[in-house]
Amino acid sequence: MDADPGAAEAGREYDARPYLPSGGGMRGLRQAAAGCRGCPLFRDATQTVFGSGPAHARLMLVGEQPGDQEDLRGEPFVGPAGRLLRKALDEAGLADEGAYLTNVVKHFKFTVAPRGKRRIHKAPSLRETTACRPWLVEELRLVAPDVLVVLGGTAGKALLGSSFRVGEQRGVLLPMPALDGGRDGSAPGQLLATVHPSAVLRSEDRDAAFAGLVADLSVAATALD
Ligand code: URA
Ligand code: SF4
Repeated sequence: MDADPGAAEAGREYDARPYLPSGGGMRGLRQAAAGCRGCPLFRDATQTVFGSGPAHARLMLVGEQPGDQEDLRGEPFVGPAGRLLRKALDEAGLADEGAYLTNVVKHFKFTVAPRGKRRIHKAPSLRETTACRPWLVEELRLVAPDVLVVLGGTAGKALLGSSFRVGEQRGVLLPMPALDGGRDGSAPGQLLATVHPSAVLRSEDRDAAFAGLVADLSVAATALD
């Protein structure tokens, strides 16, 4: 029997907070996240996929959760969605910005296709995004970016609340919400929401969707000039 069965088996509420370190900066945070068992997603995934990039980047981007390739390599945005995102950042003039990339949920959630072994992305539940969010809050506190780009609905809801709709709030610079325990007011920096690169890949008009992503990222670029 495992020494730490994790929150689910122990009947605790899903929550990453018991696994947060008391200090140690970004390295300490990353190391602690590698051992997180705050929700059941650690069990089927290969490893924790923590954020990557300069610890004091001016630009930070947050997606939903790692995909198949991210899970295997332990790095965010290294699969097809990541390639598209890098191309969009390039076209928006942000290629050299040295962004910090991360996700709301740090373990890959998937189902296995009926025949064969292909792992198919499954959207994380609200319980799981809420459980994992403390890692993101700590990353945001440490990086303290000038601009946080929120990619898609899962990340938008995690940061701006459940009424967030990407179609309504995309492409405009918003004040950074204060995330420390729901206090009112705003934190330093600005936030900009846009579509998730996976949504661009799934779109019927991929060129138009890609152009929309680039246009939104270009707004973020103006804030970093
Ligand atoms: N999609 C995400 O949201 N994050 C990744 O890291 C890869 C794909
Ligand atoms: Fe912990 Fe998040 Fe992984 Fe759940 S998904 S085990 S909360 S790191």
